[in-house]
Amino acid sequence: MQPGALWSMGDYASNGDRWAEASLRLAGELVRPGQTVLDIACGPGPFAIAAALAGAEVTALDAAPALLETARHRARDAGAEVAWVEADMTAVPLGDDAFDLVASAFGCMFAPDPEAMAAELVRLCRSGGRIAVLAWTPESAFGAMAPLVGPYLPGPGGTSPVERWARPASVRAVFAGLPVRLQFAVRTVDVVWDGLDHAVRDITEHNPAWLGIRAAVEPTGRWSDLEWDLRALLAARGREEPGRFTLPVDYLETLAAKS
Ligand SMILES: C[S@@+](CC[C@H](N)C(=O)[O-])C[C@H]1O[C@@H](n2cnc3c(N)ncnc32)[C@H](O)[C@@H]1O
Repeated sequence: MQPGALWSMGDYASNGDRWAEASLRLAGELVRPGQTVLDIACGPGPFAIAAALAGAEVTALDAAPALLETARHRARDAGAEVAWVEADMTAVPLGDDAFDLVASAFGCMFAPDPEAMAAELVRLCRSGGRIAVLAWTPESAFGAMAPLVGPYLPGPGGTSPVERWARPASVRAVFAGLPVRLQFAVRTVDVVWDGLDHAVRDITEHNPAWLGIRAAVEPTGRWSDLEWDLRALLAARGREEPGRFTLPVDYLETLAAKS
């Protein structure tokens, strides 16, 4: 399935809003008024909208029409001006050296060829500008979902490209030969639901990636086992209190300064 169709399924924002804090923090730390900013794989637009409200001139790109529609509505409601572009992030229809800041929160990590994606990020950034990428660490509750799901999926397994963006050593390899100086930080976002049951339902019924997994696993008759494993993973990593389930999730923040 094409990325635009996959990510238009379900209701990504129902999940993604719970970790939007990571995008807001990034925008708060990096964006300055008057900068030109590109948000790659913007989804419902948390980073793009925050950057525009901080006074930047923002372009935001995604392949999923449904998410861009949500982003447009949200930007209008927030009074944020953003140029929205429906396009594939692996071949961005924008010029070289065009942006002071190129950012991707949990987005460019899905590109099938990480080296080509890194080259595209560097191409779009001006010399002296910065690139910021957020990706779940493999040890985090979200990173741990890939090895959980792998054995349930029919067909040969393989390393997910997502992991390549999640450790400094592999990120250095992804940017090898490109004119950037890299800097890393591990950060945490607290993802909150009304309870553990709500977390499992929200993920399995709304998250587009999980809807794709479910469609692949259900015909094998093993979906209820995978759902059980997901629940166990969340329960082991999160904190349940009356009316609230909190899952702390670590992510790697890569900052690249282009020379
Ligand atoms: C996990 S969401 C992140 C969205 C947003 N940046 C956020 O932080 O909420 C991943 C996003 O990547 C987008 N995406 C995946 N593959 C893409 C591609 N090849 N081109 C453009 N966007 C893509 C999806 O449509 C989705 O919006």
